[in-house]
Amino acid sequence: MKQILVIGSLNMDCVIDVPVMPKAGETISGTGLALIPGGKGANQAYAVGKLGGRVGMIGAVGQDAHGEALLENLCSVGVDVSGVGVIKGVPTGQAYITVDANGENSIIILAGTNGRVDRGMIDRNLSLLEACDIVILQLEIPVDTVEYAKNLAVNMGKTVILDPAPAVAGLPDRFWQGVDYVKPNETELAILTGKEIQTREDLLAGARVMLEKGVKNVLVSLGGKGCLLVTGEREAFFAANRVKAVDTTAAGDCFTAAFGLALSQGRSVDEAIGLGQRASAIAVTRKGAQTSIPAMREVEEFCPLSGEEEN
Ligand code: RIB
Repeated sequence: MKQILVIGSLNMDCVIDVPVMPKAGETISGTGLALIPGGKGANQAYAVGKLGGRVGMIGAVGQDAHGEALLENLCSVGVDVSGVGVIKGVPTGQAYITVDANGENSIIILAGTNGRVDRGMIDRNLSLLEACDIVILQLEIPVDTVEYAKNLAVNMGKTVILDPAPAVAGLPDRFWQGVDYVKPNETELAILTGKEIQTREDLLAGARVMLEKGVKNVLVSLGGKGCLLVTGEREAFFAANRVKAVDTTAAGDCFTAAFGLALSQGRSVDEAIGLGQRASAIAVTRKGAQTSIPAMREVEEFCPLSGEEEN
């Protein structure tokens, strides 16, 4: 099995359950509160580890209780955290998440140490980059660091998967060049391309824009509607597994991780999408970020569903 390296964020998630999302100026009562390990990067590293992959992480935490708890959780599923720096005097990243009765969330992040992950940190952990086969990146650490790490990875011939969340408008084309797979959701695709995404045609057009920018393959996750794969040779929609969503937090992270893990095991792109769909379908039926990630045994037992839709 190939080795995966996740470069990205670690957050302690402060999760508040609400019946409905509060409107501007409104005060509402929450129904529950929990602290749960999260952060898009850490969620992806945790998911690869929990699903049985070989994975390491580069990132940063503060010298505080949240940082300690996050590292401990990653270690519990075998993630190599030697590339996660501990920065004195800066708090670990935090996310404040409200989850409504439909399982939808809204998230506010405070970067903390995630904002300190710089080129120097990548350079100091070059051996991890050299040793891996697949690199997974997101956008919760500085964009400059993501681009720097991506360029190094591309030059070393690694497979690069970029989950462009949270999406940043107006990134130059050079940012995308050499990326093997980019995995936006619909909202992120609209922000990245500056195009309105309403219909299937809009989705296809948006994905083609990403190809023009230099990405090799585009995977758009569509939540309960499945996902879309667009490459130079192929455009295919994949149906979703039908589940009752309890909390969608980290479902996209789980998809990205399972997809990368499947590639690391030498599986085809269609199989990797299927694994991503099944793992993330389970994740949305559970509360929290890392608390929702299934083990491979659970994914294998999960009633399958996905495959390319017949058009
Ligand atoms: O993708 C979900 C994650 O986004 C949460 O765990 C939160 O920390 C934010 O980074």
